[in-house]
Amino acid sequence: MANSAEPRPAVAHKSDRLEGTIRIPGDKSISHRAFMFGGLASGRTHITGLLEGEDVLATGRAMQAMGARIEKQNDEWIIDGVGNGCLLEPEAPLDFGNAGTGVRLTMGLVGPYNFKATFTGDASLSARPMGRVLDPLRQMGVQVEAADGDRLPVTLFGPTIAPPITYRVPMASAQVKSAVLLAGLNAPGITTVIEPVMTRDHTEKMLTGFGARLDVETDADGVRTIRLEGQGQLQGQTIDVPGDPSSTAFPLVAALLVPGSCVVIENVLMNPTRTGLITTLTEMGAEIEIINPRVSGGEDVADLRVTASKLTGVIVPPERAPSMIDEYPALAVAAAFADGETVMEGLEELRVKESDRLSAVTNGLKANGVDCTEGEASLRVRGAPGGKGLGSDQASAIVKTHLDHRIAMAFVVMGLATEHPVTIDDSAMIATSFPEFMDMMTGLGADIRLVEEAI
Ligand code: S3P
Repeated sequence: MANSAEPRPAVAHKSDRLEGTIRIPGDKSISHRAFMFGGLASGRTHITGLLEGEDVLATGRAMQAMGARIEKQNDEWIIDGVGNGCLLEPEAPLDFGNAGTGVRLTMGLVGPYNFKATFTGDASLSARPMGRVLDPLRQMGVQVEAADGDRLPVTLFGPTIAPPITYRVPMASAQVKSAVLLAGLNAPGITTVIEPVMTRDHTEKMLTGFGARLDVETDADGVRTIRLEGQGQLQGQTIDVPGDPSSTAFPLVAALLVPGSCVVIENVLMNPTRTGLITTLTEMGAEIEIINPRVSGGEDVADLRVTASKLTGVIVPPERAPSMIDEYPALAVAAAFADGETVMEGLEELRVKESDRLSAVTNGLKANGVDCTEGEASLRVRGAPGGKGLGSDQASAIVKTHLDHRIAMAFVVMGLATEHPVTIDDSAMIATSFPEFMDMMTGLGADIRLVEEAI
């Protein structure tokens, strides 16, 4: 499925109000890490609320291939880990499908092992840059064979003993930070990661929970220095994965845009490194009530009551980008209905996601009548309140999703509020992160139909 051999086009029509209560599936970032750290730790890990999307399952299969025992009993995933430093050499290439987080973090985890491991993925993943993770691994003495431009397939072979390194992350990337820290787990001494711009901190929090010795210092400019002591023991944990704020973005924006809607979204992760979209939409005039805030498994969690709202364009500060990096497709769609212009800057990382999201979003918006401008690392959207004139029945308006789940979901949401329908060329990839999306949305009242014939 992950290669989307059979595209499943879909069309979204202007819908009557959306109403109901939904529970978003588990956070993808935390789910990947739960499988990885559970598979690595000594003893047993219990996971509830895991995202059972294709991406996360690929990470689970990779951990199994390296010795972890993973099984599902009722609603709980149970993992018997190998113990830190004790992964086994995989007998076959590890196929990560569409999953950038899975492959980059696992390359970090496995790189320093003194064995050979090969990593593959689908067409989208094979086009994405891996040098950002391979460069620090090379500094640790890891031999790398990679396709042109440091792309997949990649084969790694670690040294007998990998030296710990100090690494300043050159771009705002939680995946790169995490890969270096995970490599440090199998290196003697202290691995240091300097993070000039804070990104999601799930690796730091969860590794600490599993018993790793890790400390974080933040200086007056917000630069974080993370130190990890290698070759320590990790111990199995019990993890309840909160709902994914990045998946939440789609029903949330849909409820804001479809007139008369009121939707409650339960159990949403509210870690401040992930809530930039809620901040931005609130500034645009969105009525999002945060109810029942609580702490669950060391993370802030809350329910959201979302009411259809009139939105106004805003300038989104570039420094907010890391806390909403996966949410720009949803925000761009919201901006297409706002009064005035929304300016989004600091978007260079969008070019290397599952697709070049900046151009995929711009092209989809333009094809459906939205007035917008793409810059090198920016997007300006001038909205049409009420979606008047937006959407199209023309074949030329079909949105190309480029094997990117978030492009697919963003444009399905758009079509629920545009005057004319919005069609996407493929909805199959949505299963990588949010398999329940279509059913959940139609359950709320969304008019979404699968198109029988491929387009
Ligand atoms: C993730 C980090 C982000 C994000 C991705 C998940 C993670 O990627 O876009 O969906 O779990 O660490 P980058 O590190 O490339 O910004």
